Amino acid sequence: MAQGRAHGKVILLGEHAVVYGVPALVAGLSQGAISEAEPEEADRISFNGQPVPEEHELYRGLQLLREYFEVSPVRLDLRLQVPVGSGLGGSASLGLATARALADLSEQSWTAAQLLSAVHQWEKLFHGNPSGIDAAAAQANRVLCYIRGEEPQQLQLQRPLQVGIAVAGPPAPTKQMVDRVAQHRAQEPSTFTNHLRSIQSLVESAQLCLREGDYSGLGYLMDLNQMLLSTWQVSTPEIEQACRTARQAGALGAKLTGSGGGGCVVALLPDDPEPILQAWRSEGLHCFSCEIGREDTQ
Ligand code: PMV
Repeated sequence: MAQGRAHGKVILLGEHAVVYGVPALVAGLSQGAISEAEPEEADRISFNGQPVPEEHELYRGLQLLREYFEVSPVRLDLRLQVPVGSGLGGSASLGLATARALADLSEQSWTAAQLLSAVHQWEKLFHGNPSGIDAAAAQANRVLCYIRGEEPQQLQLQRPLQVGIAVAGPPAPTKQMVDRVAQHRAQEPSTFTNHLRSIQSLVESAQLCLREGDYSGLGYLMDLNQMLLSTWQVSTPEIEQACRTARQAGALGAKLTGSGGGGCVVALLPDDPEPILQAWRSEGLHCFSCEIGREDTQ
């Protein structure tokens, strides 16, 4: 049997602005996906312990990856540790974990770039035209600076980060939210450009905060990013409430993560994360905490 693991992702700063060339800071979460593959007569997949019906598109994904790595049919056990379809990179994480498991079964050696290319094909099957940000983040529990169309750069952290993630409502389609931001750009181009410049400054300052371990400063920059995102109407009352709850319970900063319109909130946690998680839970929110930058890269 072969096993592969990969990470979920969270955007710490810069979503939406990244579409217009501003850098975004993206992190691989400690939680992600685990994929175990064992040779079998015909493909069989289970997801979080439940058998997956044969017509599910996961079978097409598996076949695509098997052909890529020249592997015969397998029994595939997939486990996903982040909520499905919530903008936390679950699909890229499953793709990379499976690519790693199949690469291992193939007994050939594959470069990281070859694995990423396989995951890109997997992502295309599920998402049409993926930017590659999720697959890049899925590789390791670290922070990347991502500029559209460029190779992501790994950032050095002075010490690990602890973040909390809460699901603040059902996710809206990414395209719908990207279109909404594009409307703001069309209606008020000069204000929009100013906002992009502001977000660029926040992202640049955040890189210094990460390098120097100034996490109070980083949290403040996340709050400012949230304010700018809300002017583009990609926030919701539920997201605002989840951010407020986190800040009042001691979070260093909080914002939406991903495309917004629902989906998840990320909060930067202090040394004791429990009060924030408790506060979210008492409002009925599904939430969890994770570290970034502690584990070795795979
Ligand atoms: O919600 P997600 O994880 O798909 O993030 C989308 C990020 C955006 O900046 C809103 C869109 C993009 O393509 O970068």
